[in-house]
Amino acid sequence: MFKNSLLAGIYIHIPFCKKACHYCDFHFSTTLNLVDDVVDSIALEAKRMKSYISEPIETIYFGGGTPSILNAKQLQKITESIFQHYTIKDSIEFTLEANPDDLTEGKIVFLKNIGVNRLSIGTQSFNENILAFLNRSHTAEQTLESVDLCQQHGISNLSLDLIYGIPEQSENQWKEDLKSMTQLNPTHISCYALTIEEKTVFGNWRKKGKILEPKDELVEEQYDFMVNYLQQKGYIHYEVSNFAKPTFISKHNSAYWHQNPYIGLGPGAHSFNGATRQFNISNNSKYIKLIKANQPPFTTEKLDKNELLTEYIFTKIRTYWGLDFNLMKQLFNYQLNNHQVEFINRIVSRKMATFVNNKLILNSKGFFISDSVVLELIP
Ligand SMILES: C[S@@+](CC[C@H](N)C(=O)[O-])C[C@H]1O[C@@H](n2cnc3c(N)ncnc32)[C@H](O)[C@@H]1O
Ligand code: SF4
Repeated sequence: MFKNSLLAGIYIHIPFCKKACHYCDFHFSTTLNLVDDVVDSIALEAKRMKSYISEPIETIYFGGGTPSILNAKQLQKITESIFQHYTIKDSIEFTLEANPDDLTEGKIVFLKNIGVNRLSIGTQSFNENILAFLNRSHTAEQTLESVDLCQQHGISNLSLDLIYGIPEQSENQWKEDLKSMTQLNPTHISCYALTIEEKTVFGNWRKKGKILEPKDELVEEQYDFMVNYLQQKGYIHYEVSNFAKPTFISKHNSAYWHQNPYIGLGPGAHSFNGATRQFNISNNSKYIKLIKANQPPFTTEKLDKNELLTEYIFTKIRTYWGLDFNLMKQLFNYQLNNHQVEFINRIVSRKMATFVNNKLILNSKGFFISDSVVLELIP
């Protein structure tokens, strides 16, 4: 429906981690006995899914969980199956999420040889106390070493992640994290405000009153500082949580934000082809059983126009591409009412957005309130 470009991607979810971080409720297991079975199943699923989209593949993204936990043989098995069954563009952006403690010299060289040309390294903080509080599996020293090794071995397109809004995190600690981050000069930076999810250790601690979420004003101060600091260092704030040096905006994530088609492989992964969305089961042993029995591991949802419109608003408003009301009129017969026009005028006069040529584009100040903008604009 949105075929403004033909960028298509493959996402592979590796649902395993060495250690559970205290904040994370993504789908992963720390029991590693099913790794080989999941890998074999993903390789088979890649073959079976090949007719889901017809476009050539421009991005491959191993996410998780912790894809860097896989050994050479396991990574090769999945990659070979993908290269065998899909048309892969020469200009492929091939990203793998890695935790610093997995990035040995041997692994980096191997990743480069199988075609990985971008690594997303889960840094989270450069402060050892904060890393321990988050229950991360690595030290700050390991992050520095891994970045150095990647750069030495020719993987220089690096994305590093940080978390802010952490209970007890001082303003100074956050400033130090941003400073350490930019000293490494990565091409791309993701900064996530901590969400305390119910079914996590932090969720449990919050219930018991053992931790307090930081005040909204403090998180807003951290956000403002981050935005100014990273922009001064030459990063483009192109999505609420994402910053990139010019020409290094993540192609894979942009494809999601542009509603381009993608195939999701592995437990918990989603696929989208413009008309339907498929949700793979988030249970490793059930996923393996279904694949072995040659049964679909997913449920399918046919998206109606209203759902596509809501997704368009929800995803695009969080990016510097913004909302195109001409396109929304053409595709969904969407028209702004008077109340919504007044709302848009208000955020424009408060310097949170521009509204030019029927396009609403939030700036960094506006991104901070993007959730409330969505609520005003969805039908
Ligand atoms: C799910 S992880 C997968 C990659 C890798 N395992 C890692 O830890 O970086 C992707 C990103 O999501 C972030 N994340 C997960 N749960 C979060 C939460 N509750 N609040 C903020 N960020 C979160 C992680 O810190 C990480 O930067
Ligand atoms: S943040 Fe990353 S390493 Fe930590 S539990 Fe979640 S997926 Fe695993």
